[in-house]
Amino acid sequence: MRAVDVIMKKRDGGELSRDEIAAIVNGYVSGEVPEYQVSAWLMAVFFRGMSFRETADLTDLMLRSGSRMDLSGIAGPFVDKHSTGGVGDKVSLILAPIAAACGVRVPMMSGRALGHTGGTLDKLESIPGYTTRLDEARFREYIERDGFAMTGQTDAIVPADKRLYSLRDVTATVESVPLITASILSKKVAEGAEALVFDVKSGPGAFMKTVDDAERLASSLVRTGQAMGKRIVGVITDMTEPLGDKVGNFLEVEESIDCLEGRGPADLMEVTYRLAAWMLVAAGNDAAGNGAAGVAQDVEAATRLCEKAVASGKALELFMRNVRTQGGDVDRMMKMRGSFRSRHVRELRAPAAGYVRSIDAYKIGLAGVYLGVGRNKTSDPVAPDVGFVFERRKGAAVAKGDLVATVYGKDEASLDAAWPLVAEALSVGPEAPAASPLVIKEITAL
Ligand code: URA
Repeated sequence: MRAVDVIMKKRDGGELSRDEIAAIVNGYVSGEVPEYQVSAWLMAVFFRGMSFRETADLTDLMLRSGSRMDLSGIAGPFVDKHSTGGVGDKVSLILAPIAAACGVRVPMMSGRALGHTGGTLDKLESIPGYTTRLDEARFREYIERDGFAMTGQTDAIVPADKRLYSLRDVTATVESVPLITASILSKKVAEGAEALVFDVKSGPGAFMKTVDDAERLASSLVRTGQAMGKRIVGVITDMTEPLGDKVGNFLEVEESIDCLEGRGPADLMEVTYRLAAWMLVAAGNDAAGNGAAGVAQDVEAATRLCEKAVASGKALELFMRNVRTQGGDVDRMMKMRGSFRSRHVRELRAPAAGYVRSIDAYKIGLAGVYLGVGRNKTSDPVAPDVGFVFERRKGAAVAKGDLVATVYGKDEASLDAAWPLVAEALSVGPEAPAASPLVIKEITAL
């Protein structure tokens, strides 16, 4: 089969067979199909889309390009959560120990910061000594002992995605529902979870800028995941404002500890509890949907269990145990709390009296790349001690000159570069903004 014929068929709006998709994906991994043809094919998919069947075939072929984590022999239920990426989104750090404290096993395989969105691995690696490179044996051992483990994608897991994602990044083909679905789902199925909760972010700070687009992605993830035999929940949450009061790497570890101590900001806790609760529900239903595994029957009951896991201190204890298990220095981490800050600092103050109408998550995320929170290329380094501490958030009344945020950069030049975006991100007006829901819509296939 000639790659050019497959490209032409998709370019003209045709539906590709599994063999035709395999010719591109497998051909790319084996080196038979050159990058320029795969780029053209990606652009054709970007504009023409894929049917549900094509998306499921692409996901399955990508999954089969590598190996899967083997969790057999460990008692489940195994449930993971995946976010499509946001700003200040440290939910994974808080939710994994909460879900584990409630009896769910969480095999969490996370990513790094890219563009304006943050990455769980970079946050965890800001803890001195913490390693996110676990081999399969240690991943299994830690999940069995502590209820959860946090690792990065290994080279053996979905190698096709590693290559395709890098190519999409430089060919402007990231924002495609079938390509994102296959990329995310192939990795999540490979890590061994039986059930998955997707946090599909919607708004300026997300890949999906509108609720309609987020809903298309959530439906695609849920439907395709279900076709692969998984129990799936898609939760669409708002990413117009940064989540929580802190954005950064170690700053977000600090805020996660605050949350596990029961002192988390309301917005962050609302999203975390909702997603964790769905994990418990997804764990609790067997394939026939009748609650055989018995973790929780409905999302309200599950939320109460999650709240109890925090109030009792059990989730915090599991977080600390995981830090120790993965090589982190808990004593140093706790000493760094509140003081591990770059000395290059600037204050964002209210330009006028009124109300904070919004703090634009996208602009904060982009500014964060200059500061050293995030990166433009996967090979760029990030800084652990930079970012934003917000003193006032959307809806707060401010007098002219009130402190809205303290901003830490890796050096003065980074603060200079970030500052126009930081200043533009803040909008202050005479009227209080209307409240908007954080959890916008939920789609379930349990
Ligand atoms: N995250 C992924 O892992 N893949 C995508 O395609 C987009 C976000």
